[in-house]
Amino acid sequence: MASANSPLAGRHILLGITGSIAAYKAAMLCRLLKTAGADVQVVMTPLAKQFITPLTMATLSRRPILVEFFDPENGAWNSHVSLGEWADCMLIAPATANTLAKMAAGVADNLLLTTYLSARCPVAVAPAMDLDMYAHEATQQNLRTLAARGVRIIEPAEGELASGLTGKGRMAEPEAIAAYVGAMLGEKKKTLEGKRLIVTAGATIEAIDPVRFISNHSSGKMGYAIAGELAARGASVTLISGRTALPTPQGVRRIDVLSAAEMYEAAVAAFDRADGAVMCAAVADYTPAEVSQTKIRKSDGEMTIALRRTRDIAAELGARKEGRLLVGFALETHDEEAHAEAKLERKHFDFIVLNSLRDAGAGFRGDTNKVTLIDRAGREELPLMSKREVAVRIVDKIESKLNIPAAER
Ligand code: PMT
Repeated sequence: MASANSPLAGRHILLGITGSIAAYKAAMLCRLLKTAGADVQVVMTPLAKQFITPLTMATLSRRPILVEFFDPENGAWNSHVSLGEWADCMLIAPATANTLAKMAAGVADNLLLTTYLSARCPVAVAPAMDLDMYAHEATQQNLRTLAARGVRIIEPAEGELASGLTGKGRMAEPEAIAAYVGAMLGEKKKTLEGKRLIVTAGATIEAIDPVRFISNHSSGKMGYAIAGELAARGASVTLISGRTALPTPQGVRRIDVLSAAEMYEAAVAAFDRADGAVMCAAVADYTPAEVSQTKIRKSDGEMTIALRRTRDIAAELGARKEGRLLVGFALETHDEEAHAEAKLERKHFDFIVLNSLRDAGAGFRGDTNKVTLIDRAGREELPLMSKREVAVRIVDKIESKLNIPAAER
């Protein structure tokens, strides 16, 4: 079952297969990549066809296999340039000593090699050969040359080889290769290194008495996804969190608070040293005017609780932002855009993320959201997607607001 959370989901992978006995493992590898949700296009060298049939690979990848520069039947051209542009990653598994040598030397005598030379995406190779071929200085030199050019080498394992000898040269197992490629595609460029950002997330809790409180449905998922994405891109992140059951995202410093007043204190203090803040928390606008120190006993009559306004954290940061970045959220139920645009101006946000409870799958608690990003230049309506993907789009916009050039992203 494909997992939307896998870094392989929806990614385009060019799987290159060369003429090695380990080619049979490419069938399982292809299956694993497909199961994780990747779109796999297989390119084989002519010799690879002797080890595994194109029919097997076409059936597993659900795409025709490419071997020659053009189809001899109808002359259709297999463009190595378009293949290179299509791919998010090129994986050559198994990679023979011959193909590694040609890659290192820039030889372009088959479709797989011309595609490699045209590819702009990350490239990984899983060498497979006899132990002496692998250990030979020529092969090691070629691997060093490729690694120096950024090609990822998935180390072969030690074990029994097709020759009957035992040693290093056996292609890594398909599970290990699929995991390696997943991790490689999940890596983020550290575009936000050196930036200090605050994220508020989750619901605040306003005590009525020691037993009861006023709160809302925020789970913290949206804010935690943003904090995790910022940290993955190298930012130093302070997450000011209301009560949630979520684990702290990797690399994030978390400050736990309960009430709007506590969140205000923590956010204002952290903002002094920050380059910006993302205000994703659902903060109470009102809090009980008095908190009873003892449990309020029930009586026959009705009961009224006097409420007073809390301080608006986002508005306060907006008033003292002095060129720093401020991103707001608007959770609306009607007249969505008008309300969001009013908040954008009133709180001095650089942009605001509008989500409406009228949209199925949007807002509180779930793993998805449907948002519109609004700034003074216009609006961008995004389709329903996972909160993780929404976080990616929000952080992309944060990068553009911080003037991080697209080429570095
Ligand atoms: O946590 P999840 O379950 O994943 O749900 C995500 C979410 C629905 C909570 C999130 O997507 C969201 O919309 N967060 C903002 C909710 C909200 O309180 O919106 P608002 O329109 O009331 O507030 C506008 C902005 O001012 C927000 O950026 C809010 O954080 C901020 N604010 C509001 C009041 C206050 N006292 N201080 C604030 O900083």
